[in-house]
Amino acid sequence: MSFSGKVVIVTGASSGVGAATAIAFTKEGASVVMIGRNQTKLDKVKEKCEAVGRTPLVINADLTDDAELRNIVDKTIEEFNKIDILINNAAILRCGNLRHGSIMHTYDEIMKTNIRAVVYLTTFATPHLIESKGNIINISTIGADRVIWDEYNAYCVSKAALSHFTRAAAIELGPHGVRVNTVSPAIVRSDMLRNAGLGGDADYDDSNYSFKTVMNTWTEPEEIADLILFMASDKAKSITGSNFVSDNGNMLI
Ligand SMILES: NC(=O)c1ccc[n+]([C@@H]2O[C@H](COP(=O)([O-])OP(=O)(O)OC[C@H]3O[C@@H](n4cnc5c(N)ncnc54)[C@H](OP(=O)(O)O)[C@@H]3O)[C@@H](O)[C@H]2O)c1
Repeated sequence: MSFSGKVVIVTGASSGVGAATAIAFTKEGASVVMIGRNQTKLDKVKEKCEAVGRTPLVINADLTDDAELRNIVDKTIEEFNKIDILINNAAILRCGNLRHGSIMHTYDEIMKTNIRAVVYLTTFATPHLIESKGNIINISTIGADRVIWDEYNAYCVSKAALSHFTRAAAIELGPHGVRVNTVSPAIVRSDMLRNAGLGGDADYDDSNYSFKTVMNTWTEPEEIADLILFMASDKAKSITGSNFVSDNGNMLI
């Protein structure tokens, strides 16, 4: 699946799914723009991209800052003169519930990162995507359709909004030749749980770990990257407004 000559923006490229996606696109010949905040992690992924292809453009940006969102698009155009693919992958997971009011400590931060930033970055990128007849992939979760745990309330709400945003954007942009889709994993081995203050070093067989799948395993970030590349490629040219689940059968149980 060649992406030679394509320009791809990947948010949350410093870690997990985003890192694997940036490396995979680079390997297939794309010019990749990597977005994240942790410079040490960004540098490590950049080195991995260089090892399989070319040097990505790394933009250290906080997606909750509107000016930085505009700057991501401006810098990409300055460097490559176009945008073909936008991967809205960055997100945060935080816990909070209604009984103790703790949901309010995290609600705004989650919404700002997981949905507002996506809407804004997509807005700035839209004219360029229309010009290139490109496509957008939003990374959601099976939690958008089924609340996994009540402590994940705000996270699941943000991802349900993202899934619906995908459909609305697909309706608006389809007539302009731009496809918009969602990829929804269940449990991926990444830094997400650790970043949420939930440990993260647990393995699938850990008896304290209760989130199970039919296939008795977690998903690796590279498997989600494979699906993203397929969805972004011409092989998926008739697919828009769709949600592709990759969950090792978690939704079945
Ligand atoms: N891991 C799972 O089990 C799982 C399951 C279902 C869906 N997903 C989805 O998969 C996607 C990727 O998650 P992951 O598992 O790879 O998580 P991760 O390892 O925690 O990576 C999250 C990424 O988002 C970036 N990010 C977060 N807030 C940001 C901000 N304000 N500005 C810029 N970058 C920001 C982080 O960058 P910095 O650290 O550099 O700031 C990091 O690169 C997310 O959309 C997530 O909801 C994950």
